[in-house]
Amino acid sequence: MAVLEHLTSQQAIDLENKYGAQNYHPLPVVLSRGEGVYVWDVEGNKYYDFLSAYSAVNQGHCHPKIIGALKDQAEKLTLTSRAFYNDVLGRYEEFATKFFGFDKLLPMNTGAEAVETALKLARKWAYEKKGVPTNQAKIIVCQNNFHGRTISIISASNDPVATENFGPFTPGITSIRYNDINALQEALKDENVAAFLVEPIQGEAGVYVPAENYLKEAYDLCKSKNVLFIADEVQTGIARTGKLLAVDHEGVKPDVLILGKAISGGVLPVSAVLANDEVMEVIRPGNHGSTFGGNPLACVVAMAALEVVEEEQLAKNASELGELFREEMEKLIKETDLVRLVRGRGLLNAIVINDSEDSSTAWEICMALKENGLLAKPTHGNIIRFAPPLVMNKEQLLDCVSIIKKTLLEFDK
Ligand SMILES: Cc1ncc(COP(=O)(O)O)c(C=O)c1O
Repeated sequence: MAVLEHLTSQQAIDLENKYGAQNYHPLPVVLSRGEGVYVWDVEGNKYYDFLSAYSAVNQGHCHPKIIGALKDQAEKLTLTSRAFYNDVLGRYEEFATKFFGFDKLLPMNTGAEAVETALKLARKWAYEKKGVPTNQAKIIVCQNNFHGRTISIISASNDPVATENFGPFTPGITSIRYNDINALQEALKDENVAAFLVEPIQGEAGVYVPAENYLKEAYDLCKSKNVLFIADEVQTGIARTGKLLAVDHEGVKPDVLILGKAISGGVLPVSAVLANDEVMEVIRPGNHGSTFGGNPLACVVAMAALEVVEEEQLAKNASELGELFREEMEKLIKETDLVRLVRGRGLLNAIVINDSEDSSTAWEICMALKENGLLAKPTHGNIIRFAPPLVMNKEQLLDCVSIIKKTLLEFDK
C-alpha cells in the first residue's frame, strides 16, 4: 500500500497500460479519493464528478450512511452463498420489493448479469406460461441499445465495436427501431415473442429520450399480445431521471424490472431483477444463481443506499436541478456554435457537439473540462453525457454550469 500512496498519475496510467487489458479508453486522470460530488486525483487536484461512474454513484461518493452499513456488516458476515440462509437477504428482499412495488426479487451483482437473468426468466415464462413451443421464444430489443457485455447481450447489439469477432451469437433476438411504435406492433405479430426489452431512455447511445407516451403505448401493446415488458433501468433507475424509475414518468409498471449501479450507491456490485409471482415463480431451485448474488454485505449496502434516495429526496433534486441545467445549456447554445442541442431528463443529460460523428472534438472538450475541474466523458462520438451525483446542490450545479460555459466559450475561440 505504501507504494500505491506514492504513485504519480503517470505511473498509475503506465501500470494499467502495461499490465491491464486495454478494454477501456479512460480520460487521463487518476482518482484516489471521493466525497459527495467531488473526486480528487493522486496529485490532490479536486474535480466535480459529472459522470457518477455511469450513474452508479447517485448518492454521492462514500456516502457516510452507506459506508457505515458496509463497515458494520463487514465485521459480522460477508458471504454465505445461497447454500445457506443468512439473516439479511430476506429483510432486503422485503424492503426492496415494497420499495419498488413487486412480489419478488432475484439478487445478482452486475447489470449485465441482471439483464441475462431477465432474459432467462422471460424465456422460461414463455414456455411454461404462455405456451411458446420449445426453443422458439423471441426477445424484441431496440437498435442502439446498451444492456451489457455478455455474449447473449451483445447478440442484441448492433454496435460493431461491441460485436465484431465475438460470434457466433445467441439466436432468438429481433431488433427493431427505438421509439418506433409501429415497428413494435409489427414485431409483436410473431406469436412466439416472450418479451420486449427496452431502456426507458437510451443512456449509452447518447441519452435518447423517446417520444411522450412511447413507453406507455409499448407497454399496452405488449399486454395486448401477452408479452412481457422488461424495463432495463440499470442506468435510468434510482432517481436519476427525476423519478424513482424512468418508467414512472409515464405511469408504466413493467412486468420485469432490471436494476443495478445505483442500487448500491456505487459501493458494491449489486443488481436485481424484480417481478410479480406469476412471472418469478417459473424459477425453481437450481435454475439460476450466483455465488455472490444476495450476499449480506450487498444487502445492507443496498438497503442503506435506497434509504438515502428517499431520505434526501434525490428524485426531486434531480428533477429540479435537471431543469435548471438544461435551461442553462439552452442559453449557452445561443452563445456558441459548438453545441447543437441539449437533451435529457432529470440529471441524465447530454449535449451534442456540432461536429462530425468521428471527430475528436467531444474528447478534446472533455480534456479541457478536466483542466477546469470537471470530469465528463464522451459517449458515441460527438455526444457528451452529463450525469453528476444526485446529492449535488444548486450552488454546486451553477458552479459546474459556469465551468462548462467557460470551457466551451474558450474552446470556441
Ligand atoms: C442500461 C444498461 N444496462 C445494463 C448495463 C450493464 O451494467 P454492468 O456494466 O454493471 O454490467 C448498463 C451499463 O452501463 C446499462 O447502462
